[in-house]
Amino acid sequence: MKYFEKEKLEIIKNKISDIKNINVLELGVQNGNSTNMFLEICNQNDGYLTSIDIKDCSSVSTDKRWKFILSSDDNFELVEKFIANKQFDVLFIDSYHEPNHVKKVFFHYFKFLKKDALIFIDDVMWLPYIKNGVKDNDFIERINRLTFDKLLEIFNNNVENLTLDINFSGSGLATLKKIGEKLNKEKKIKNRLFSIKNLIKKYIYSPQPKN
Ligand SMILES: C[S@@+](CC[C@H](N)C(=O)[O-])C[C@H]1O[C@@H](n2cnc3c(N)ncnc32)[C@H](O)[C@@H]1O
Repeated sequence: MKYFEKEKLEIIKNKISDIKNINVLELGVQNGNSTNMFLEICNQNDGYLTSIDIKDCSSVSTDKRWKFILSSDDNFELVEKFIANKQFDVLFIDSYHEPNHVKKVFFHYFKFLKKDALIFIDDVMWLPYIKNGVKDNDFIERINRLTFDKLLEIFNNNVENLTLDINFSGSGLATLKKIGEKLNKEKKIKNRLFSIKNLIKKYIYSPQPKN
């Protein structure tokens, strides 16, 4: 596992390690790095983990505290057969890293979260992926940037319902806390940097030094 991936799991672990009878919902299992971290906490704190993946990851663990659901996490009808009466303390979103998908599952599973529940969203930072960056990748740069912007738009209209912290290391990790019961639709953030007024200020009233 890469250094930053380990660091992110440590950040999550530290934030949830005191939650008694913890109930976790995880979207995206793959090789089970996060799954096994959550199971460690579940065993310490008498809790349970439910994980969803579109691929069969059932061999990742035989732990009795684990329920694996083989499904797309936006197949809500199927997933609800397993979680209908549950309320979770933690939601980890690490499945299909596409801004509209992240938004869709975030809004859907929000109602299955207890008050003060923590939501972790992986891969919200684009810096390593910029041109000539350490992981130069046009597609991931764009998708992570859009996910980050989407998150800000959600937060922008939900400051009474959510807190938001971002860890910028590696590919980034967002931590949100549910502090209100409902969630408002996201709201676009208007950027005034390129307004005519500010462009005039920049180029006419504060001319750039000539070389
Ligand atoms: C980044 S990996 C998960 C890594 C894992 N959480 C960890 O920390 O090791 C993403 C996983 O999401 C799964 N996935 C992709 N799209 C999905 C979807 N729509 N629903 C559920 N799982 C999905 C993939 O099969 C893959 O196993």
